[in-house]
Amino acid sequence: MRSFLRYVLSIFPIILLVTGGAASIGGWNWAWGSLALIMAAIAARDAWKLQQLHRWLQDHNLSPGYSARRTWEQVFGRLHSLEKRYDENQMRLSEASQRFEQALALLPIGTVILDRSERILWCNPAAERHLHIDLTRDRQQSLPYLIRRPEFQDFLEHRPATENHTILRGRHGQDLTLMLQLVRYNDEERMLVTHDITQLERDEKVRQDFVANVSHELRTPLTVIGGYIETLQTSGPLPPTTLDKILDTVASQAQRMQHLVEELLSLSRLESQTGVAPLTPVALSSLLSQVPPTARQLSQERHTITVSMAEENFLQGIESELLSAFGNLVANAVRYTPTGGSIDISWSLQEGSGIFSVRDSGIGIDAEHIPRLTERFYRVDRARSRDTGGTGLGLAIVQRIAQHHEASLMIDSTPGKGSTFALHFPAHRITSN
Ligand SMILES: Nc1ncnc2c1ncn2[C@@H]1O[C@H](COP(=O)(O)OP(=O)(O)O)[C@@H](O)[C@H]1O
Ligand SMILES: [Mg+2]
Repeated sequence: MRSFLRYVLSIFPIILLVTGGAASIGGWNWAWGSLALIMAAIAARDAWKLQQLHRWLQDHNLSPGYSARRTWEQVFGRLHSLEKRYDENQMRLSEASQRFEQALALLPIGTVILDRSERILWCNPAAERHLHIDLTRDRQQSLPYLIRRPEFQDFLEHRPATENHTILRGRHGQDLTLMLQLVRYNDEERMLVTHDITQLERDEKVRQDFVANVSHELRTPLTVIGGYIETLQTSGPLPPTTLDKILDTVASQAQRMQHLVEELLSLSRLESQTGVAPLTPVALSSLLSQVPPTARQLSQERHTITVSMAEENFLQGIESELLSAFGNLVANAVRYTPTGGSIDISWSLQEGSGIFSVRDSGIGIDAEHIPRLTERFYRVDRARSRDTGGTGLGLAIVQRIAQHHEASLMIDSTPGKGSTFALHFPAHRITSN
């Protein structure tokens, strides 16, 4: 309304001037004539403008069926659909941006948008977690001010062209390793991408330790064998008793290497398995009859070994794997129980689940070691384990087999008194016939 008044007021002096001039030259008739001419010119100009607007709206293809008549209605109709289309677009845009934000929120990779002065413009929740920032609190804050680590500040300032990432370790006393990357996507802004590589680094460390352990385990017997072979090559003829001794040692070292390689192969086979063991029934009486003979052979009558079975059941799984797990637990009991001790092997049922347990009256284990016993090559007493022919892989194998059979390995031990190692199998793997 105000713009209309302004328009009228702006043309009013011109009308006054022209009609006044015409009146003074040719009287009232001239004045009316010129007024009519001015009005006709204004009407023609508006009609032309309206036509232009109409054509422009038509170009935007808002609605079909242009008619020269009722142009005003057409124009208003088209403006209305333009507004509707604008609203629809707005809605679609805000939906898309919502979806995008949701996706970014779920992304495990952190992203921070930084301005030229390294101030935070925006970041996703993963970046908040990784960098310990809070977008609502820290927006517009300088990121190097919040992360006061020289290596990080150096990376932001002088990121070398060849290396576009850096590693940031253990902030806020956390065991968190981050890989940071910088991406420049326009002149004003940069994006910092953060990846949590803690687990990757841990896995890499486990792999390196594993290779180092295997090499170490193989080196000892190889050194012994190598040393004796050299002795045989360089010394003159040896008395038969010495020769027998040397050959015995070489044979036992070779056996040790063979045992290690066999355990490594079986562990690697178990680790490459996916899914769970098939449900093939295996009679427990058969399993329990196969374990004690090996144990007795290892014990050489130094221990009292008993076997008890609450009732005959069938355990669903792979017989060779179950035998290997049971055998490992029983062998450990024999090896870590001094002469005169007892070893009780039992099968029982508890609320539908089946428990295979081996209880010994041996040396026991300090509580601090228990959570690590199933790690590959972890041994409480390395020398003692080696002396008894251990490789440090037995419990890692047992653990894998347990996982494969959806079972859990429970360890209960008192130093100096003895230990109980028990495998708990779920009810659906136990049948009575
Ligand atoms: N019954 C047990 N009593 C005491 N310590 C045990 C027993 N079983 C296992 N351990 C400890 O757990 C470690 C890991 O066992 P395992 O993986 O079978 O390797 P190893 O080849 O040394 O027996 C052993 O070195 C030993 O220190
Ligand atoms: Mg063992």
